[in-house]
Amino acid sequence: MEPLVSEIKQKFQPRLKPIEWRGDRLVLLDQRILPFETRYIEAKTVEDVAHAIRDMAVRGAPAIGITAAFGMVLALVEKTPSNTQEALKTLARAREILSKTRPTAVNLFWALDRMYNKAVELTSSASSVRELRDGLEKEALKIFEEELDAEIKMGLYGAELLEDGDTVLTICNAGGLATGTGLGTATAPIYIASMLGKRVSVIAPETRPWQQGARLTVYELMQNGIRTTLIADTAVGLVMYRRLVDIVMVGADRILLDGHVFNKIGTLNEAVLAHEFGIPFYVLAPTSTIDTRSRVEDVKIEERSPDEVRTVRTAQGSVYVTLKEVAVYNPVFDVTPPKYVTGIITERGVATHPLSINLRKLLNKT
Ligand code: MRU
Repeated sequence: MEPLVSEIKQKFQPRLKPIEWRGDRLVLLDQRILPFETRYIEAKTVEDVAHAIRDMAVRGAPAIGITAAFGMVLALVEKTPSNTQEALKTLARAREILSKTRPTAVNLFWALDRMYNKAVELTSSASSVRELRDGLEKEALKIFEEELDAEIKMGLYGAELLEDGDTVLTICNAGGLATGTGLGTATAPIYIASMLGKRVSVIAPETRPWQQGARLTVYELMQNGIRTTLIADTAVGLVMYRRLVDIVMVGADRILLDGHVFNKIGTLNEAVLAHEFGIPFYVLAPTSTIDTRSRVEDVKIEERSPDEVRTVRTAQGSVYVTLKEVAVYNPVFDVTPPKYVTGIITERGVATHPLSINLRKLLNKT
């Protein structure tokens, strides 16, 4: 597979650069105002990075992890601690701040742990804070690079499941914007299948309340020349009933070893309906999204501001669509039990049932 991965890497020209590291700052494409405006923000401090993640200027599990990894580097750019032991304390504080931004996507905690552990390892050999900072910068760039490699592999596995003329139903935005690479997880098979000459189209639900489908998925798929149809979230049942969908491909924020999948609110609805209508339901995620420690009841499903539901995001800003004082329940993720999942596609291969055995087998593969 490696030669094919390098070939695709060379051919793949991302139209979007959602995350760019500039040595002393991070440049982020502001996803809060897409597709109406293309504006970049700069993060120069740990607090800037935390704010960008919390307020969703950058979002999507892998992109959050990559951004947080660079946030750890910025901790040492922002202040120069006097020695490597002081630097470790600064990094522990940065990890604490960044870990409190969003609770569900496990990639955030995975990336922070990896960066902190790397710092501890480097401290035993690094003679200066500058050396430590350079080592951490290398590690963050490696995390970013590994993500793209993983997506190409997932894309190749996923593209094998797509036939010429197929229509894929997705949810939210599990595309290049959500991973920072321009390729994405659930979108990788679509982009790669189309590079390989298959005509694949996509149905994207708007994904209320934040409208990642309507604002982001539609935007990036159309920029990349993929035939895309936007539907209201409430139309998911009918498009399946009418057989307008051949396969479902979604991303994930956290996958448990028993096969439970945490992803954008509405994923469970798609999974149950797909099961009922006999449509394959695949989840695509790098192995960094697999949480080997938690049980379902341990995972916090993020609840966000009621105003996200009371309003819609338009080119003119957020507009109320209901009474400002109405009570709202706004969980932004849900959990899909393994019985509704046909398979989980990672860079190490495709895990099918029994997921609890086959996911472990994938993780043990080198
Ligand atoms: O709230 P968001 O926009 O960060 O949620 C994003 C999702 O749910 C994605 O499906 C998931 O992170 C996978 S991204 C490749």
